Amino acid sequence: MTDVRVTHIGGPTLLIEVDGWQLLTDPTFDAPGRTYRFGWGTASRKLTGPALPAESLGDLDAVLLTHDHHADNLDDAGRVLLPTAGRVVTTVAGSRRLGAGTIGLAPWQHTTLTAPGRPTIEVTATPCRHGPPLSRPVVGEVTGFVLRWAGQRHGPLWITGDTVLYDGVRQVADRFGIGTVVLHLGAVRFGRTGALRYTMTAAEGAELCRLVGAHSVLPVHYEGWSHFSEGRQAVEAAFAAAPATVRASLRLAHPRHGQLPHGLTGPGWRWNLPPPPGRALPDGCVRSGPSWIWAYPDGSLRCSERPSRTRRTGRTAIVSNPARRSPSESPTAKQRRVWDRSAPSYDRQIAFLERVQFAGGREWLGDRVRGRVLEVAIGTGRNLPYYPADATLTGVELSPAMLDIARRRAAELGRAVDLREGDAERLPFASASFDTVVCALSLCSIPHPAQAIDEMKRVLVPGGRLLLLDHVASTWPPVRAAQWLLERVTVRVAGEYFTRRQLPLVRAAGFTIVEAERLKAGTVERVHAVKSA
Ligand SMILES: C[S@@+](CC[C@H](N)C(=O)[O-])C[C@H]1O[C@@H](n2cnc3c(N)ncnc32)[C@H](O)[C@@H]1O
Repeated sequence: MTDVRVTHIGGPTLLIEVDGWQLLTDPTFDAPGRTYRFGWGTASRKLTGPALPAESLGDLDAVLLTHDHHADNLDDAGRVLLPTAGRVVTTVAGSRRLGAGTIGLAPWQHTTLTAPGRPTIEVTATPCRHGPPLSRPVVGEVTGFVLRWAGQRHGPLWITGDTVLYDGVRQVADRFGIGTVVLHLGAVRFGRTGALRYTMTAAEGAELCRLVGAHSVLPVHYEGWSHFSEGRQAVEAAFAAAPATVRASLRLAHPRHGQLPHGLTGPGWRWNLPPPPGRALPDGCVRSGPSWIWAYPDGSLRCSERPSRTRRTGRTAIVSNPARRSPSESPTAKQRRVWDRSAPSYDRQIAFLERVQFAGGREWLGDRVRGRVLEVAIGTGRNLPYYPADATLTGVELSPAMLDIARRRAAELGRAVDLREGDAERLPFASASFDTVVCALSLCSIPHPAQAIDEMKRVLVPGGRLLLLDHVASTWPPVRAAQWLLERVTVRVAGEYFTRRQLPLVRAAGFTIVEAERLKAGTVERVHAVKSA
């Protein structure tokens, strides 16, 4: 597990420390009091200074710059830092303006940060629209970033960038199983442009977080400037009105001296280094282990995430998160829990549907596999009897209880199958290592199906086959309406969807479709696609 620390320095500026990496977002270190012009008659006044001076940061490995052309994201003191950073990653237009050595990424392009002895960090650009529809040519390019590395604790870290809520950001929720969101809010408005908004309201931010289902949400870019029309109170109110899981994901730094962040009070809390002025560090606490750490805008205090238990080693307090089910359970953890519980009865229940709804489906899959076969979300291994004897079989599955039954089935069939526990959204296999990938009856419940399909594509060799079978939204409107109603219950209870489709996701991932069939009033879909050579 990596040790991650996030320090909110002010506005959109964060220091993100990951196992030896020092990454800075949107550097803003100017003193308060100045008014900055953003073009087209718009302007904003900086009201508060940074929580930490730039000099206190040490060597920066990279700056992740959502855009370079607004001073609330890159100010004069921030610009001075750019040449000192190992790398600057930003928009394509920004990289042209900033010049040599800057990496410009278009949406969904990625770059990697590598260094000996540290985890490789993949930085993927995500779409942003910093204003109303069609405003991009006027407002300019902005990007968000998704950060992924091996051993990431709660899943990818997403910095949304300055954006309104629109389909581009919703797609991020579909493509990545986001664990932590750095949410740019503020509902930016200018007198000159009336009701037009340039960033999300807190309510829209909470709605986006509901879609994302992240473990932690860190709101930024809502304080310290006059162009923010919503501040901390709006953030608190919007999340208080959100569903329990969204509410529980909020990690809000508190601007007042000596106060703990929202919701993070109570026994077990430890001050972190440095102790606030005039306060002694509690006995035995030097610093906490893997945890979120926030500095307040007045720079006086940092504290760490709530430990479920505190273990002391000499003068070090090590904190860890609760292992039991919590209101902030991630969609993936929910899947594991649901399928662990259903494992003993699964074979009995699915046997009926195999006869009635999915008849011939497993045979259809078995007839098409060849070579090295990976079955994603293999469950209890019900496809195993249908695979040809010369296929080399590997299965990956989230639920240990389902996997145990698959192991027994493989032994009974006398088949050698490499069965592993793992997440379809982060397959534990090297790229281009399988000739066929199969996924049956599972994209309906895998939390982020587009991300899983991207992963299936990654592990396939060029020319490799993707074979999918699942229940999907019917082609008959009355049946579709019934599925929609049913889904109101099943998503909440078991994270199972009835109105998803596989084919559009397979196309969007760049596969070539070989066969696609809809059966049973269009409620069953079979897809055979090929990864381009
Ligand atoms: C309906 S069962 C299908 C099992 C099997 N593929 C079959 O055809 O019988 C859905 C399976 O998807 C698995 N699953 C859900 N989310 C997953 C994920 N993110 N990674 C791997 N498996 C997942 C569940 O644990 C469950 O075993």
